[in-house]
Amino acid sequence: MIEVTFVTNNNKTVTAPEHSNLLRVSLREQGGIPFKCGGGLCGTCKCKIEKGLENTDAIKAKERKHLTDAQFKDGYRMACQTFLNGNVSVSWEPRNPANLKSRPDSNLATS
Ligand code: FES
Repeated sequence: MIEVTFVTNNNKTVTAPEHSNLLRVSLREQGGIPFKCGGGLCGTCKCKIEKGLENTDAIKAKERKHLTDAQFKDGYRMACQTFLNGNVSVSWEPRNPANLKSRPDSNLATS
């Protein structure tokens, strides 16, 4: 088993079998990585492998449509295209302006 830490989700850490797909682990364990298509098309699942980049598999052609060489060097991957062979920590830019707009009070009222 390997460990996946979702840094942007309060460092939530889960276990998964080796060779798991990163987005699938996130979905199964409610890790929180944003996604839309699940098929390498939309670019929504862009994330940064903070630790364990060496435990990810080869970069896919689909990822090259959304990320630059410099971003790959910095650890960026598309979660739906990335398979894991060891422990990783992953972060992403929280997004969803649409949700925020439809919930204008979302930053208030939690005490
Ligand atoms: S979810 Fe669309 S590219 Fe990964």
